[in-house]
Amino acid sequence: MKRLDQLLANLGYCSRREAKAYLRAHAVTLAAAPTTPLTDPAKKVDPTAVRVDGEPLDHPDGLLLVVNKPHGLTCSHDPREAPLIYELLPERWRTRNPIVTTVGRLDKDTTGLILLTDQTELVHRLTSPKHKVPKIYHATLDRDLDPALIDLFAAGTLQLDGEKVPCAPATLRIVEPRLAELTLIEGKYHQVRRMFAAVGNHVTALHRVTFGELSLADLPPGQWRELPPDYFG
Ligand code: URA
Repeated sequence: MKRLDQLLANLGYCSRREAKAYLRAHAVTLAAAPTTPLTDPAKKVDPTAVRVDGEPLDHPDGLLLVVNKPHGLTCSHDPREAPLIYELLPERWRTRNPIVTTVGRLDKDTTGLILLTDQTELVHRLTSPKHKVPKIYHATLDRDLDPALIDLFAAGTLQLDGEKVPCAPATLRIVEPRLAELTLIEGKYHQVRRMFAAVGNHVTALHRVTFGELSLADLPPGQWRELPPDYFG
């Protein structure tokens, strides 16, 4: 059970201060009593029983989204870095508390699969170095790929500038002379671009194809697919 004003504020309907006015302006009821509007913001309610203008609450158990990030959006909440990936989402999801945030980051110029969630603990768990979830990237290069890179990346010895620890073993597949499929189990800052830069090549386009078992399938850029909030347990 949760206080109604807290619930409405956490799910992005209104601020806690606005809750009283919100209750006046909307038919907020319990499913079992659809003709009795709730007027007390302090009332304790079961989130699954609340109806707003006849509709169940918007994802009261949390949000977990697979998003196909388009080029040019930043994985940041800082408006100075706009346009932000969160601009893809409905307004109500952008004002939830806890805030909806990305699981790790993709660069502004990187496209592809990124998870968004309001589950803070999940973000920490999935981005922890202990959580070695494989992520597959497709990188387009501006020079032909040297087959020797397959063994070099697999060796786990590649040292990037400014990093104390070498890159963990990574799997490189040369799909085309200038198209690489790289599987990483870690996520250092700009890692894919820096790995290729370290061997004298340059990534001109980067797309994340998978995150663990998850893939984009036919999800168009800018769209998302919902996962059950307890998908990762
Ligand atoms: N590696 C990069 O260089 N950029 C990304 O966005 C993700 C991985």
